[in-house]
Amino acid sequence: MTDADLLSRADAIAARAYAPYSNFHVGVAVLLRDGTVVEGVNVENAAYPLTVCGEKNAISTAITQGYGPGDFEALAVNASPCGGCRQWLWQMKFDRVVFRHAGKVVTMTPAELLPETFDDL
Ligand code: THU
Repeated sequence: MTDADLLSRADAIAARAYAPYSNFHVGVAVLLRDGTVVEGVNVENAAYPLTVCGEKNAISTAITQGYGPGDFEALAVNASPCGGCRQWLWQMKFDRVVFRHAGKVVTMTPAELLPETFDDL
């Protein structure tokens, strides 16, 4: 699974987003170190702040399947991760994050995405 393949998976799963308010469909594909790919999409709510981002949904699904921090190799998403999701990416110790921004594909580490990150360690 190359990073380009992972981003293609994210692009494709975005079609399943539930985003009737923003109409902004976010798709996420997470690569675990064992080769498993877990997907996620954003899920919106009429009470707008209750919306859950695609990144959080994908990570939560992986956690539910038994994975934990250190098992996460890469995350691909068809949008630039929001500030809150950057904190989640840091928490799960991803090696890299691949995302689309301003017409380009960008690859960054969680530390680059959120410098001087809050950490309880
Ligand atoms: N969104 C995500 O799913 N992930 C992000 O990192 C940025 C924002 C969603 C939330 C909302 O459903 C829509 O994109 C517009 O903000």
